[in-house]
Amino acid sequence: MEPRTIIEPFRIRMTEPLPVSTPDQRRQFLHAAHYNPFLLRSREITIDLLTDSGTGAMSAAQWAAIMTGDETYAGSESYYQLRDVVQALTGHKHVIPTHQGRSSEHILFSVLDVASKQVLANSHFDTTRANVEYLKGEAIDLVIEEGRNPGSEHPFKGNIDLARLEDHLKRGGDKVALVLMTVTNNAGGGQPASLENLRAASELAHKYGKPFMLDAARFAENAWFIKEREPGQQHRTPREIAQEMFALSDGFTMSAKKDGLVNIGGLLCLNDDDLAEKARALLILTEGYPTYGGLAGRDLAALAVGLQEVTDEAYLKYRIASVRYFHKLLDKLGVPLMRPAGGHAVYIDAGALYPQLKPWELPGVALCNELYLEGGVRAVEIGTLMFGKPDQAGGHDHTAPLELVRMAFPRRTYTQSHVDWLGEIMAEVVARRGKARGLRIAKQGPILRAFTAQLEPLT
Ligand code: F0G
Repeated sequence: MEPRTIIEPFRIRMTEPLPVSTPDQRRQFLHAAHYNPFLLRSREITIDLLTDSGTGAMSAAQWAAIMTGDETYAGSESYYQLRDVVQALTGHKHVIPTHQGRSSEHILFSVLDVASKQVLANSHFDTTRANVEYLKGEAIDLVIEEGRNPGSEHPFKGNIDLARLEDHLKRGGDKVALVLMTVTNNAGGGQPASLENLRAASELAHKYGKPFMLDAARFAENAWFIKEREPGQQHRTPREIAQEMFALSDGFTMSAKKDGLVNIGGLLCLNDDDLAEKARALLILTEGYPTYGGLAGRDLAALAVGLQEVTDEAYLKYRIASVRYFHKLLDKLGVPLMRPAGGHAVYIDAGALYPQLKPWELPGVALCNELYLEGGVRAVEIGTLMFGKPDQAGGHDHTAPLELVRMAFPRRTYTQSHVDWLGEIMAEVVARRGKARGLRIAKQGPILRAFTAQLEPLT
């Protein structure tokens, strides 16, 4: 009989102490951080679930690759190692390294000239949308209806609505610059897109003569969900599934800080020679020479290893199961959750947890602050502080559609006992849900206010 417990498929031989603090200290730290957890210092945080981006642990093989990274300016061997690994995984001809995902996005949207044009996606991630808009394009989200309903248990809530996609392609004509699928769909709760949906979206884009691109930050987690959930895919390896996902596309951007299993790095890959030439010209201007693209040779070497490790079945099985384990634990506590569990994070509906707080009283931030005060846990609000806008007329802020809190899991970093401990912290926070206080914004910047805003608790 197979054991029921899915163990971490690694053992640990380098450790880092977890900072611990007293409730009094945490009250002081949070006050000094103006009640915005983004402004806390790492030494003040015990378990950090702010993001899964660049915060994971590298393997011994990756650290070994770091030591033999080739720091040659042009023609580094580490680049060629990475190129070979990426070509074998994706089939794409041109492999362009960048320092992280958003610079790949900026270069891609510049060479596809999105000015006055539309980008049609399941959902754009924040930086993706911001880059489209910065270049004067229009970012349109066409995720399926179920993807916008937190309670829906649809297995592929990251799917794009094919009827609406075709309608936009038909009506948009020359105004459409590209079709983009984010896998998994971070802005929609880390939910996957199915292979069937990716095939159909690729076919539609090509029928209307548009490039079909992926935002492949979490491609391996998406491939695992396809293997688990999509009829007829169980016999394939995650790597084979990922290969088909990439083969459907004309190119992709990737933040390698997620499924690349590295702390910094990105990729822009393309099949088209002309586009790639233009992208490399821009890369030299903004990132660096095409064989390093804003990274050190050692970073390229670690990424080459990470991209091979991430499709390992034992790793992906553990990864998805560990996030699901936390989701189940919270569900048992009666925490209102976005369903089903995402690939990299659990999303809590803070608006439903704290019905006494109005959206402009920032229930998501209130929950983040409660988690911090209880256990030194850091999570991130994805609600009105992040997506709302101040009302120019002096009324309440324009609010976000949902007041969510994301608890994202760094890869290979925390163990099951950390997660059990998180459950105990959450139980305390839930027990005093009726007493949670809202916050007001005391100071905010003109753009992306969530990162720097200063807040004050309401009395
Ligand atoms: N695309 C997706 C789907 C992402 O989740 C991110 C980053 C990016 C692009 C941008 O990549 O950070 O390397 O420039 N997501 C992080 C997060 C920041 O916390 O979800 P980057």
